[in-house]
Amino acid sequence: MLIKIPRRSDCHESEVTPEALYLNRRQVMQGAALSVACAGLPLMACAQEGRYEGVDADDAPAWFDAKRGEARWEAVVAKGEAITPYRDATHYNNFYEFGPDKGDPAAHAPKLVTEPWTVMVDGEVANPGAYSVEDLFAAPRLEERIYRLRCVEAWSMVIPWLGFPLAELVRSLEPTSNAKFVRFETLARPEQMPGMRTGFSLIDWPYVEGLRMDEAMHPLSLMVVGMYGRVLPNQNGAPLRLIVPWKYGFKSIKSIVRISFVREQPATTWQTMAPQEYGFYANVNPDVSHPRWSQARERRLPGSLFSPNVRATLAFNGYADEVSSLYAGMDLSKDY
Ligand code: MTE
Repeated sequence: MLIKIPRRSDCHESEVTPEALYLNRRQVMQGAALSVACAGLPLMACAQEGRYEGVDADDAPAWFDAKRGEARWEAVVAKGEAITPYRDATHYNNFYEFGPDKGDPAAHAPKLVTEPWTVMVDGEVANPGAYSVEDLFAAPRLEERIYRLRCVEAWSMVIPWLGFPLAELVRSLEPTSNAKFVRFETLARPEQMPGMRTGFSLIDWPYVEGLRMDEAMHPLSLMVVGMYGRVLPNQNGAPLRLIVPWKYGFKSIKSIVRISFVREQPATTWQTMAPQEYGFYANVNPDVSHPRWSQARERRLPGSLFSPNVRATLAFNGYADEVSSLYAGMDLSKDY
Protein backbone atom coordinates (compact mmCIF):
# COMPACT_ATOMS: atom_id res chain seq x y z
CA MET A 1 0.00 0.00 0.00
CA LEU A 2 1.27 3.46 -0.89
CA ILE A 3 1.50 4.80 2.62
CA LYS A 4 3.92 2.07 3.67
CA ILE A 5 6.45 3.13 1.01
CA PRO A 6 8.81 5.62 2.67
CA ARG A 7 8.46 9.03 1.06
CA ARG A 8 9.75 12.46 1.83
CA SER A 9 6.65 13.28 3.84
CA ASP A 10 6.87 10.09 5.90
CA CYS A 11 9.35 9.34 8.63
CA HIS A 12 10.15 6.88 11.32
CA GLU A 13 8.88 7.21 14.84
CA SER A 14 12.35 8.31 15.98
CA GLU A 15 12.18 11.33 13.68
CA VAL A 16 9.15 12.79 15.42
CA THR A 17 10.47 15.50 17.73
CA PRO A 18 10.52 14.69 21.43
CA GLU A 19 8.52 17.78 22.39
CA ALA A 20 5.76 16.25 20.34
CA LEU A 21 4.83 14.53 23.60
CA TYR A 22 4.68 11.44 21.51
CA LEU A 23 5.05 8.12 23.25
CA ASN A 24 7.99 9.05 25.43
CA ARG A 25 9.23 6.45 27.88
CA ARG A 26 7.41 7.99 30.78
CA GLN A 27 4.11 7.85 28.94
CA VAL A 28 4.68 4.26 27.91
CA MET A 29 5.35 3.42 31.55
CA GLN A 30 2.25 5.31 32.62
CA GLY A 31 0.29 3.44 29.98
CA ALA A 32 1.61 0.13 31.25
CA ALA A 33 0.79 1.04 34.84
CA LEU A 34 -2.64 2.18 33.76
CA SER A 35 -3.35 -1.05 31.95
CA VAL A 36 -2.54 -3.00 35.11
CA ALA A 37 -4.80 -0.67 37.09
CA CYS A 38 -7.51 -1.24 34.48
CA ALA A 39 -7.67 -5.00 35.02
CA GLY A 40 -10.94 -6.26 33.60
CA LEU A 41 -11.12 -3.58 30.89
CA PRO A 42 -9.65 -4.11 27.41
CA LEU A 43 -5.89 -3.85 27.95
CA MET A 44 -5.03 -1.99 24.75
CA ALA A 45 -7.78 0.56 25.15
CA CYS A 46 -6.44 1.54 28.54
CA ALA A 47 -2.83 1.68 27.39
CA GLN A 48 -3.62 3.74 24.31
CA GLU A 49 -5.45 6.38 26.28
CA GLY A 50 -2.10 7.21 27.89
CA ARG A 51 -0.35 7.98 24.60
CA TYR A 52 -0.66 11.76 24.78
CA GLU A 53 -0.50 14.29 27.55
CA GLY A 54 -3.36 16.62 28.37
CA VAL A 55 -6.02 14.49 26.71
CA ASP A 56 -9.50 14.68 28.21
CA ALA A 57 -11.03 11.56 29.68
CA ASP A 58 -12.55 9.43 27.01
CA ASP A 59 -16.17 8.32 27.20
CA ALA A 60 -15.91 6.29 24.02
CA PRO A 61 -18.71 4.01 22.83
CA ALA A 62 -18.01 0.29 23.05
CA TRP A 63 -17.52 -0.18 19.30
CA PHE A 64 -14.79 2.49 19.31
CA ASP A 65 -13.00 0.90 22.25
CA ALA A 66 -12.96 -2.45 20.48
CA LYS A 67 -11.58 -0.85 17.31
CA ARG A 68 -8.99 1.18 19.19
CA GLY A 69 -7.70 -2.01 20.79
CA GLU A 70 -6.78 -3.35 17.34
CA ALA A 71 -5.55 -0.07 15.82
CA ARG A 72 -2.38 0.18 13.76
CA TRP A 73 -0.47 2.99 15.43
CA GLU A 74 1.74 5.46 13.54
CA ALA A 75 0.76 4.24 10.08
CA VAL A 76 1.86 7.69 8.82
CA VAL A 77 3.81 10.28 10.77
CA ALA A 78 4.77 13.90 10.05
CA LYS A 79 8.44 14.24 9.38
CA GLY A 80 10.38 15.98 12.13
CA GLU A 81 7.41 18.04 13.28
CA ALA A 82 6.01 18.45 16.76
CA ILE A 83 2.47 17.30 17.36
CA THR A 84 0.18 20.17 18.31
CA PRO A 85 -0.84 20.00 21.97
CA TYR A 86 -4.27 18.45 22.42
CA ARG A 87 -5.59 21.57 24.13
CA ASP A 88 -4.91 23.72 21.03
CA ALA A 89 -6.34 21.16 18.63
CA THR A 90 -9.57 21.04 20.61
CA HIS A 91 -9.99 24.72 21.55
CA TYR A 92 -9.01 26.52 18.36
CA ASN A 93 -11.54 25.20 15.88
CA ASN A 94 -13.59 26.05 12.86
CA PHE A 95 -17.06 24.55 13.07
CA TYR A 96 -19.38 27.34 12.05
CA GLU A 97 -22.51 25.41 12.98
CA PHE A 98 -21.48 26.24 16.57
CA GLY A 99 -20.47 29.86 15.98
CA PRO A 100 -17.87 31.98 14.23
CA ASP A 101 -15.25 32.28 16.98
CA LYS A 102 -12.45 29.78 17.42
CA GLY A 103 -13.65 28.97 20.94
CA ASP A 104 -17.33 28.52 20.04
CA PRO A 105 -17.08 24.85 19.00
CA ALA A 106 -15.42 23.82 22.29
CA ALA A 107 -18.01 25.85 24.22
CA HIS A 108 -21.14 24.61 22.43
CA ALA A 109 -20.42 21.34 20.63
CA PRO A 110 -20.23 19.11 23.74
CA LYS A 111 -24.06 19.29 23.90
CA LEU A 112 -24.42 17.77 20.44
CA VAL A 113 -25.96 14.30 20.66
CA THR A 114 -23.83 11.94 18.56
CA GLU A 115 -25.33 8.60 19.56
CA PRO A 116 -27.10 7.06 17.76
CA TRP A 117 -25.74 8.39 14.45
CA THR A 118 -26.93 7.44 11.00
CA VAL A 119 -25.19 8.12 7.68
CA MET A 120 -27.35 8.09 4.55
CA VAL A 121 -25.63 6.67 1.47
CA ASP A 122 -27.28 7.41 -1.86
CA GLY A 123 -26.81 8.23 -5.52
CA GLU A 124 -24.81 6.19 -8.01
CA VAL A 125 -24.06 3.27 -5.71
CA ALA A 126 -24.93 -0.41 -5.49
CA ASN A 127 -25.34 -0.40 -1.70
CA PRO A 128 -27.37 2.67 -0.74
CA GLY A 129 -29.05 2.88 2.64
CA ALA A 130 -28.96 4.20 6.17
CA TYR A 131 -25.85 3.01 7.99
CA SER A 132 -25.00 3.39 11.65
CA VAL A 133 -21.44 4.47 12.44
CA GLU A 134 -20.91 1.01 13.96
CA ASP A 135 -21.93 -0.54 10.61
CA LEU A 136 -19.52 1.65 8.68
CA PHE A 137 -16.68 0.78 11.03
CA ALA A 138 -17.46 -2.91 11.48
CA ALA A 139 -14.89 -4.21 8.97
CA PRO A 140 -12.02 -1.74 8.65
CA ARG A 141 -9.08 -1.63 11.02
CA LEU A 142 -8.34 1.76 12.54
CA GLU A 143 -5.02 3.41 11.75
CA GLU A 144 -3.28 6.34 13.36
CA ARG A 145 -2.15 8.93 10.82
CA ILE A 146 -0.21 11.97 11.98
CA TYR A 147 -1.02 14.59 9.35
CA ARG A 148 -0.42 18.30 8.91
CA LEU A 149 -3.66 20.30 8.85
CA ARG A 150 -3.38 23.60 6.95
CA CYS A 151 -6.35 25.96 7.16
CA VAL A 152 -7.02 28.37 4.29
CA GLU A 153 -6.76 31.11 6.96
CA ALA A 154 -2.99 30.40 7.08
CA TRP A 155 -2.69 28.61 10.41
CA SER A 156 -1.70 24.97 10.76
CA MET A 157 -1.42 22.10 13.21
CA VAL A 158 -0.06 18.54 13.30
CA ILE A 159 -2.69 16.09 14.52
CA PRO A 160 -2.67 12.34 15.19
CA TRP A 161 -5.97 11.11 13.70
CA LEU A 162 -7.54 7.68 14.10
CA GLY A 163 -9.51 6.44 11.14
CA PHE A 164 -9.43 4.31 8.06
CA PRO A 165 -8.94 5.00 4.35
CA LEU A 166 -12.00 6.51 2.68
CA ALA A 167 -11.17 4.26 -0.28
CA GLU A 168 -12.07 1.18 1.80
CA LEU A 169 -15.48 2.63 2.56
CA VAL A 170 -16.07 3.65 -1.05
CA ARG A 171 -15.15 0.17 -2.28
CA SER A 172 -17.49 -1.50 0.20
CA LEU A 173 -20.38 0.72 -0.95
CA GLU A 174 -19.70 -0.15 -4.62
CA PRO A 175 -20.26 3.04 -6.59
CA THR A 176 -21.39 2.55 -10.17
CA SER A 177 -19.28 3.68 -13.13
CA ASN A 178 -21.48 6.82 -13.31
CA ALA A 179 -20.13 8.05 -9.98
CA LYS A 180 -17.55 10.75 -10.72
CA PHE A 181 -17.62 12.66 -7.42
CA VAL A 182 -18.41 11.99 -3.76
CA ARG A 183 -20.52 14.57 -1.96
CA PHE A 184 -20.55 14.84 1.85
CA GLU A 185 -23.06 16.61 4.04
CA THR A 186 -22.89 17.64 7.71
CA LEU A 187 -25.69 17.28 10.25
CA ALA A 188 -27.98 20.32 10.38
CA ARG A 189 -29.63 20.41 13.80
CA PRO A 190 -30.20 24.09 14.73
CA GLU A 191 -31.57 23.32 18.19
CA GLN A 192 -28.13 21.90 19.16
CA MET A 193 -26.04 24.08 16.84
CA PRO A 194 -26.23 27.73 17.94
CA GLY A 195 -24.16 28.97 14.97
CA MET A 196 -26.99 27.95 12.67
CA ARG A 197 -29.44 30.09 14.63
CA THR A 198 -27.43 33.31 14.74
CA GLY A 199 -27.59 33.86 10.99
CA PHE A 200 -23.80 34.09 10.94
CA SER A 201 -22.42 34.65 7.46
CA LEU A 202 -24.19 33.62 4.34
CA ILE A 203 -23.77 29.89 4.79
CA ASP A 204 -26.54 27.93 3.20
CA TRP A 205 -26.77 24.98 5.59
CA PRO A 206 -26.07 22.10 5.63
CA TYR A 207 -22.30 22.35 5.18
CA VAL A 208 -21.37 20.43 2.04
CA GLU A 209 -18.04 19.25 0.67
CA GLY A 210 -16.93 17.00 -2.15
CA LEU A 211 -14.07 15.15 -3.78
CA ARG A 212 -13.39 13.86 -7.25
CA MET A 213 -13.57 10.07 -7.23
CA ASP A 214 -9.79 9.63 -7.68
CA GLU A 215 -9.18 12.00 -4.75
CA ALA A 216 -11.62 10.00 -2.62
CA MET A 217 -9.79 6.78 -3.57
CA HIS A 218 -6.36 8.18 -2.74
CA PRO A 219 -4.80 6.30 0.21
CA LEU A 220 -4.18 9.52 2.17
CA SER A 221 -7.91 10.41 2.30
CA LEU A 222 -9.19 9.32 5.68
CA MET A 223 -12.52 8.75 7.42
CA VAL A 224 -11.81 9.78 11.00
CA VAL A 225 -13.42 8.80 14.30
CA GLY A 226 -10.65 9.63 16.76
CA MET A 227 -7.63 11.79 17.54
CA TYR A 228 -4.80 11.65 20.10
CA GLY A 229 -5.68 8.01 20.77
CA ARG A 230 -9.22 8.81 21.89
CA VAL A 231 -12.64 9.21 20.41
CA LEU A 232 -13.15 12.40 18.34
CA PRO A 233 -14.34 15.32 20.50
CA ASN A 234 -17.55 16.88 19.21
CA GLN A 235 -15.85 20.17 18.30
CA ASN A 236 -13.51 18.25 15.99
CA GLY A 237 -16.36 16.62 14.08
CA ALA A 238 -17.68 13.65 16.06
CA PRO A 239 -18.59 11.03 15.40
CA LEU A 240 -17.30 10.89 11.83
CA ARG A 241 -15.37 13.35 9.68
CA LEU A 242 -13.23 13.47 6.61
CA ILE A 243 -9.53 14.39 6.55
CA VAL A 244 -7.84 15.23 3.25
CA PRO A 245 -4.38 16.38 4.34
CA TRP A 246 -3.16 17.95 1.09
CA LYS A 247 -6.16 20.29 0.87
CA TYR A 248 -7.13 23.33 2.87
CA GLY A 249 -8.93 22.37 6.07
CA PHE A 250 -12.38 23.42 4.86
CA LYS A 251 -12.47 20.31 2.63
CA SER A 252 -12.26 18.15 5.77
CA ILE A 253 -15.96 18.16 6.56
CA LYS A 254 -17.15 17.32 10.06
CA SER A 255 -20.03 15.33 11.59
CA ILE A 256 -21.06 13.66 8.34
CA VAL A 257 -24.64 12.42 7.92
CA ARG A 258 -24.81 11.89 4.19
CA ILE A 259 -22.48 10.47 1.53
CA SER A 260 -23.71 10.72 -2.07
CA PHE A 261 -22.10 9.33 -5.20
CA VAL A 262 -22.84 11.79 -7.98
CA ARG A 263 -22.19 12.38 -11.68
CA GLU A 264 -21.53 16.12 -11.52
CA GLN A 265 -19.14 18.17 -9.42
CA PRO A 266 -21.17 19.04 -6.29
CA ALA A 267 -21.83 22.62 -5.22
CA THR A 268 -19.78 22.96 -2.03
CA THR A 269 -20.27 25.42 0.83
CA TRP A 270 -17.30 27.77 0.54
CA GLN A 271 -17.02 27.64 -3.22
CA THR A 272 -20.69 28.51 -3.58
CA MET A 273 -20.43 31.35 -1.08
CA ALA A 274 -17.27 33.00 -2.47
CA PRO A 275 -16.07 31.32 -5.68
CA GLN A 276 -13.43 33.96 -6.32
CA GLU A 277 -11.84 33.10 -2.94
CA TYR A 278 -12.41 29.36 -2.43
CA GLY A 279 -12.16 26.74 -5.14
CA PHE A 280 -13.54 23.23 -5.36
CA TYR A 281 -10.05 21.70 -5.38
CA ALA A 282 -8.57 23.79 -2.54
CA ASN A 283 -5.18 22.09 -2.77
CA VAL A 284 -2.70 23.74 -0.43
CA ASN A 285 -0.65 25.93 -2.75
CA PRO A 286 1.90 28.51 -1.58
CA ASP A 287 2.06 29.95 -5.10
CA VAL A 288 -1.61 30.88 -5.39
CA SER A 289 -2.61 33.64 -2.99
CA HIS A 290 -6.04 34.04 -1.53
CA PRO A 291 -7.34 37.38 -2.90
CA ARG A 292 -6.97 38.91 0.56
CA TRP A 293 -3.77 37.28 1.87
CA SER A 294 -0.72 35.29 0.78
CA GLN A 295 -0.67 31.52 1.16
CA ALA A 296 3.14 31.34 1.06
CA ARG A 297 3.49 31.08 4.83
CA GLU A 298 1.53 29.73 7.75
CA ARG A 299 1.33 30.14 11.51
CA ARG A 300 1.94 26.79 13.21
CA LEU A 301 -0.06 26.54 16.41
CA PRO A 302 0.62 27.07 19.21
CA GLY A 303 2.27 30.45 18.82
CA SER A 304 2.09 33.80 20.50
CA LEU A 305 2.07 37.46 19.54
CA PHE A 306 5.81 37.69 20.17
CA SER A 307 6.66 34.26 18.79
CA PRO A 308 4.13 33.54 16.04
CA ASN A 309 5.88 30.36 14.88
CA VAL A 310 5.63 31.14 11.18
CA ARG A 311 6.92 28.71 8.58
CA ALA A 312 6.84 28.29 4.80
CA THR A 313 3.81 26.53 3.41
CA LEU A 314 4.60 23.42 1.36
CA ALA A 315 2.98 22.54 -1.96
CA PHE A 316 0.11 20.14 -1.32
CA ASN A 317 0.86 20.67 2.38
CA GLY A 318 3.98 18.51 2.07
CA TYR A 319 2.24 15.60 0.33
CA ALA A 320 3.21 16.53 -3.25
CA ASP A 321 5.12 13.27 -3.87
CA GLU A 322 1.97 11.32 -3.14
CA VAL A 323 -0.73 13.42 -4.77
CA SER A 324 0.60 15.82 -7.43
CA SER A 325 0.00 13.26 -10.20
CA LEU A 326 -3.74 13.55 -9.53
CA TYR A 327 -3.58 17.06 -11.02
CA ALA A 328 -1.25 16.46 -13.98
CA GLY A 329 -2.12 18.78 -16.85
CA MET A 330 -4.33 21.06 -14.75
CA ASP A 331 -3.65 24.75 -14.26
CA LEU A 332 -3.77 24.99 -10.48
CA SER A 333 -3.93 28.78 -10.56
CA LYS A 334 -7.31 28.42 -12.28
CA ASP A 335 -8.44 25.22 -10.56
CA TYR A 336 -7.54 26.51 -7.10
N1 MTE B 1 -17.05 21.11 8.75
C1 MTE B 1 -18.23 21.67 9.08
N2 MTE B 1 -19.34 20.92 9.04
N3 MTE B 1 -18.36 22.98 9.42
C2 MTE B 1 -17.27 23.80 9.44
O1 MTE B 1 -17.42 25.00 9.75
N4 MTE B 1 -14.87 24.02 9.05
C3 MTE B 1 -13.77 23.53 8.21
C4 MTE B 1 -13.49 22.05 8.44
N5 MTE B 1 -14.72 21.29 8.49
C5 MTE B 1 -16.01 23.25 9.09
C6 MTE B 1 -15.92 21.87 8.77
C7 MTE B 1 -12.54 24.29 8.38
S1 MTE B 1 -12.56 25.87 7.72
C8 MTE B 1 -11.44 23.79 8.97
S2 MTE B 1 -9.97 24.65 8.97
C9 MTE B 1 -11.46 22.49 9.64
O2 MTE B 1 -12.75 21.91 9.65
C10 MTE B 1 -10.99 22.66 11.08
O3 MTE B 1 -10.93 21.43 11.74
P1 MTE B 1 -10.55 21.42 13.29
O4 MTE B 1 -11.46 22.37 13.99
O5 MTE B 1 -10.72 20.00 13.74
O6 MTE B 1 -9.11 21.88 13.38
